[in-house]
Amino acid sequence: MTTRYWHYRAVFILIINVCLYASCQHTDLQLCQRCNGTLQNATALGRFCTSVEGLVDGRCCLRNDNPSEAVNVIGLDFSNCNLKHVDDLQEASTAIMIDLSLNPIFNLSDSVFQGFIQLNYINLPANLGCPGGNASWEKVEVKGDSCLCEGQKNVCNQTGQMSLNCPENSLCAPYGPGLFECSCEHNFHGYKCLREGEFPLVLVFGPLAASTVGVSILLWVTQRRKAKSV
Ligand SMILES: *[C@@H]1O[C@H](CO)[C@@H](O)[C@H](O)[C@H]1NC(C)=O
Ligand SMILES: *[C@@H]1O[C@H](CO)[C@@H](O)[C@H](O)[C@H]1NC(C)=O
Ligand SMILES: *[C@@H]1O[C@H](CO)[C@@H](O)[C@H](O)[C@H]1NC(C)=O
Ligand SMILES: *[C@@H]1O[C@H](CO)[C@@H](O)[C@H](O)[C@H]1NC(C)=O
Repeated sequence: MTTRYWHYRAVFILIINVCLYASCQHTDLQLCQRCNGTLQNATALGRFCTSVEGLVDGRCCLRNDNPSEAVNVIGLDFSNCNLKHVDDLQEASTAIMIDLSLNPIFNLSDSVFQGFIQLNYINLPANLGCPGGNASWEKVEVKGDSCLCEGQKNVCNQTGQMSLNCPENSLCAPYGPGLFECSCEHNFHGYKCLREGEFPLVLVFGPLAASTVGVSILLWVTQRRKAKSV
């Protein structure tokens, strides 16, 4: 009786794990479905997606370089989607190419592209101009109704005041077109990287880890008791 009980438990745990694994693999990117239709294949973005053997999902080109991680959006084609506002594109922060052309977008904040460090090509309605300004791109081209910005520049690698803005003990790191962040050097942390020493990992995760162990022991003891009484 007891062994059978444990068999059921093992099967149950297996099923749970399979479900968890399946849900991790499932791509459910709402952004890709925000606009009708699919990624056009005759554009520069479409050709790029084909050349890297990307997976087309709605308006996105996806790729999964590391099978243990979630898929990444590498291309986003929102061309001709009648978009008036573009605010949250964070699901596409790994994008290399984005097309927002042929949309009645009135204005676009630079902060939309925060963290888009791999973005290397963006096609926009001509009235908007390149995110981060022309100086953030290697090549800017206005063609009819759209403006093409290619080759994102690394603002940290510009001789000028920009890279000098990071406080002492910190390093400048790119953070999207025209954007950068200062990250503390090894061994420094806190406000303006003024505190020295290892980050107190044990202090932060200590109580959590202890309570997890406590709950596990409690569960184990109660389960054993249940198993014995069966
Ligand atoms: C592009 O898409 C069209 C329509 O979906 C399809 O008929 C055509 O074969 C595609 N071309 C390429 C090069 O994939
Ligand atoms: C865009 O324009 C609207 C209307 O003029 C304004 O309310 C909004 O703050 C603007 N957004 C940005 C990011 O400039
Ligand atoms: C950026 O460059 C384009 C193309 O050279 C030009 O038409 C546009 O006026 C420039 N924008 C600014 C703000 O300088
Ligand atoms: C900075 O940019 C210059 C020219 O664009 C390049 O030659 C150099 O290797 C870059 N340096 C770094 C550290 O990326």
